[in-house]
Amino acid sequence: MTAERPTAAIVPAAGRGERLGPGAPKALRLLGGAPLLVHAVRALSASHAIDLIIVAAPIDQLDLIRNLLDQPDLSTEIEVVAGGESRQESVALALLSLSPDIEFVLVHDAARPLVPAELVASVAAAVHAGNPAVVPGLPVVETVKQVDSDDHVLATIDRRPLRAIQTPQGFTRAVLQSAHALTDPHKSSATDDAGLVELSGQQVLVIPGHEEAFKVTRPIDLVLAEALLARRRASGIVS
Ligand code: CTP
Ligand code: MG
Repeated sequence: MTAERPTAAIVPAAGRGERLGPGAPKALRLLGGAPLLVHAVRALSASHAIDLIIVAAPIDQLDLIRNLLDQPDLSTEIEVVAGGESRQESVALALLSLSPDIEFVLVHDAARPLVPAELVASVAAAVHAGNPAVVPGLPVVETVKQVDSDDHVLATIDRRPLRAIQTPQGFTRAVLQSAHALTDPHKSSATDDAGLVELSGQQVLVIPGHEEAFKVTRPIDLVLAEALLARRRASGIVS
């Protein structure tokens, strides 16, 4: 445990998963027999960097999710709260449940079920070392073009300084709370927490991300996740 650096993880899990197609809310979709959310929470717990996990869940699934997460192998304290209309609102609602002793917060998408515990630990270590805002990122591999409203190319963007940003994103509690307090979730277009922190004027550090921390967004991502999980299980890594 990290008693001298009390750290919570907020897990936004209240999305519908529309791009994944019809079915249960995305956090409850199965991967290797367990819901995506359970995989994500296990990885956070396995990092040994997190003292409290707050899950923002779909409002109609609170009891079901509380039961799902009530497992003996999940030793970390877990709270389940109702999420909101947007990811940002879900994180803001979870922030309201933080106990006063928490000093650091990692925000991790339920939709990134196979995040390695080592990446969680690296992000936590970087905020504990004095960086107020830390995000994992990977170089962009595709060529990126900007287009106009008729899909004609306006420009090709130099991808070398670009990073595709993942979660968990780590912050001091004060930095994350003031960034959320400054932004109305109904008006903002930020797709991650670091985006809000940037708007508040705070510098954000990018550390190396991990390919296995990819987000399950479209059906093909579940195919990749199943294959990766099968490979992990075959090599004796249980998840
Ligand atoms: N999320 C949330 N509350 C919302 C919307 C999203 O907590 N109102 C969470 C999702 O559950 C997910 C994470 O934010 O863990 C990243 O969002 P995304 O991948 O966009 O998931 P969904 O919004 O569920 O998917 P889609 O946009 O395809 O509907
Ligand atoms: Mg979404």
